[in-house]
Amino acid sequence: MAEAYYKQHWIDIEPERHEAYDQILAFHPAMEPLIRPLELKPGLSVLDVGSGPGHTTFELARRVGSEGRVTGVDINADFIAKSSARGQSQRLDVEFVHSGFPPLPFPDSAFDRVFCKNVLEYVDSAADTVAEMARVAAPDGIVVATDSDWDMIALDIGEEARELSDRVLAAAKAIAIKEPRIGRKLRGIFLGAGLSDVKVEIMAGADVAGRSLPMLKASFARYARDSGRVGADEVDRWLRMVEAAIIGGRYLFVLPQFVVRGIKS
Ligand SMILES: C[S@@+](CC[C@H](N)C(=O)[O-])C[C@H]1O[C@@H](n2cnc3c(N)ncnc32)[C@H](O)[C@@H]1O
Repeated sequence: MAEAYYKQHWIDIEPERHEAYDQILAFHPAMEPLIRPLELKPGLSVLDVGSGPGHTTFELARRVGSEGRVTGVDINADFIAKSSARGQSQRLDVEFVHSGFPPLPFPDSAFDRVFCKNVLEYVDSAADTVAEMARVAAPDGIVVATDSDWDMIALDIGEEARELSDRVLAAAKAIAIKEPRIGRKLRGIFLGAGLSDVKVEIMAGADVAGRSLPMLKASFARYARDSGRVGADEVDRWLRMVEAAIIGGRYLFVLPQFVVRGIKS
């Protein structure tokens, strides 16, 4: 493996995982609190840092309209190719740039708004990435990062599954996440990057219907298997317990999202 797992697994995404991410990372109205702090309006230029399949990037583009300008940047070449093609088919004028970060491949003060969703837990340095987000933001521009915090995940699928759940989640976290406590650290990182008027919100809904199952399968279970810290058979048993809890109506999963915004002074 050329890079650490937390980075390499984004460089190499196999087709089934691409399909899963298309579903997991679709934009839906419940995500409004994540983008509201950007205060988008027609005509603004926006950078989406770690744009993935581009669904949120397109939503940003719709909000800044044809007078605005939206750019996505991501380390995965297939995400860039697919989101570029989708943008053309939806007649949305979004530019997608293939690059790892930090650093960000853009000049100083190039964007009115800089956004980053569920990416900073995977990068070599979240602090350096946020410093880069601040650098490419225009004076008085708004920088927003939203991320979860792996030490605040709550999963309940029954007491008999607790020990196995804890081991699967710990194994996934150990290999795939560079900065598991990114959520709670974002405020300090924003302040360290010189951003001002830093505000923190937390968005947390309880999934009791099983909507998070595709994410548990494509991310958590996959990472745990790859870690070698739990057997593949144990991960499969865990997924069966998750599915049984969903069917039995006693599933609960909470993944709080920190939403942090700062102003470039
Ligand atoms: C969980 S996905 C989030 C995608 C998108 N922000 C969204 O919410 O729909 C994480 C994204 O970060 C990208 N990524 C992870 N590490 C990266 C790095 N070091 N440089 C550039 N992109 C990276 C991945 O390729 C992936 O698209």
